[in-house]
Amino acid sequence: MRKHDFDRIENAPVRRKQRRARFDDEPAPARSGRLTEAERVRLADLRADAYTETDIPGDRWSTWDAAEHGPAPHPDWVITDLAAVDTELGVLKTGKEAEVHLLRRGIPGGRQSLLAAKRYRAAEHRMFHRDAGYLEGRRMRRSREMRAIATRTAFGRNLIAEQWAVAEFAALGRLWEAGAPVPYPVQRDGTELLLEFVGDADGTAAPRLAQLRPDPDELRDLWHQTTIALEQLAALGLTHGDLSAYNVMVHNGQIVLIDLPQVVDIVANPRGLEFLARDVRNIAGWFTGRGLPADLADVDAVTRELRMTAGLR
Ligand SMILES: Nc1ncnc2c1ncn2[C@@H]1O[C@H](COP(=O)(O)OP(=O)(O)OP(=O)(O)O)[C@@H](O)[C@H]1O
Ligand SMILES: [Mg+2]
Repeated sequence: MRKHDFDRIENAPVRRKQRRARFDDEPAPARSGRLTEAERVRLADLRADAYTETDIPGDRWSTWDAAEHGPAPHPDWVITDLAAVDTELGVLKTGKEAEVHLLRRGIPGGRQSLLAAKRYRAAEHRMFHRDAGYLEGRRMRRSREMRAIATRTAFGRNLIAEQWAVAEFAALGRLWEAGAPVPYPVQRDGTELLLEFVGDADGTAAPRLAQLRPDPDELRDLWHQTTIALEQLAALGLTHGDLSAYNVMVHNGQIVLIDLPQVVDIVANPRGLEFLARDVRNIAGWFTGRGLPADLADVDAVTRELRMTAGLR
């Protein structure tokens, strides 16, 4: 066994116990009479502890250890320390298929980083209906899982949600490795993805493209960045599959593509070219609607370019 594993097994239960003990130790309310100075100090400390963030019951130990990890080498802000604590800071967005929460992962008294936790719901999925062959086509380990998906039991719905999480995590990893502008996928654990938080250090998420009214120069620049990103995807044979001004964030003037579980293989998917053309049409439509000259956002020309990049005529 590697030393790392040994430490983990030896230390994890102890750490948990120490942490719980702070709650268990709370002063008994029935205690009366005068407090000694030492007791007064001890009580003050206990109360202070009860309000520190690491003791909010919603916290959890970092789930890094048990999760699937993003591509190596990890960016240096990724916290892999087993003593790290994840603190829920609130909901960024709730949707039909997923909820995105703001999370802080930090080593008590040490480094910390903000993450976006995207949690797929075990509900009926819009995407599932849109492309019914998508999940059934994937190889499942057990026929029990296939039956559960087919009959839509709670277990089956959870498996579907997990498959979307797996698909998005894989797509983000691939795109990030290729240098495309996507959030770094830190980890996946079941139906939950932890992603690089796109926003400011104070927890303010970057706006979506749809929320912006860029001036003409910014508009040109954002369009230019978008076409470069689409070229990067096409070079891998991919298109976003659900591209719109809602699935592009803009942080410090830089675009970031998000929401990629349905990423489409232009070549292997029989409707690949259709999805590619739709993505270009949707996003170019937003730019021309905001005043970008139509000759700059020429849907046919851009689509043709991307087809060539993907190796298709
Ligand atoms: N990495 C991130 N950093 C900051 N905010 C994020 C991040 N990922 C997602 N969000 C926020 O959460 C919203 C929803 O994310 P996403 O589009 O991936 O999920 P969704 O369930 O498909 O939502 P929708 O149905 O609105 O498209 C985004 O529009 C954005 O505001
Ligand atoms: Mg979205």
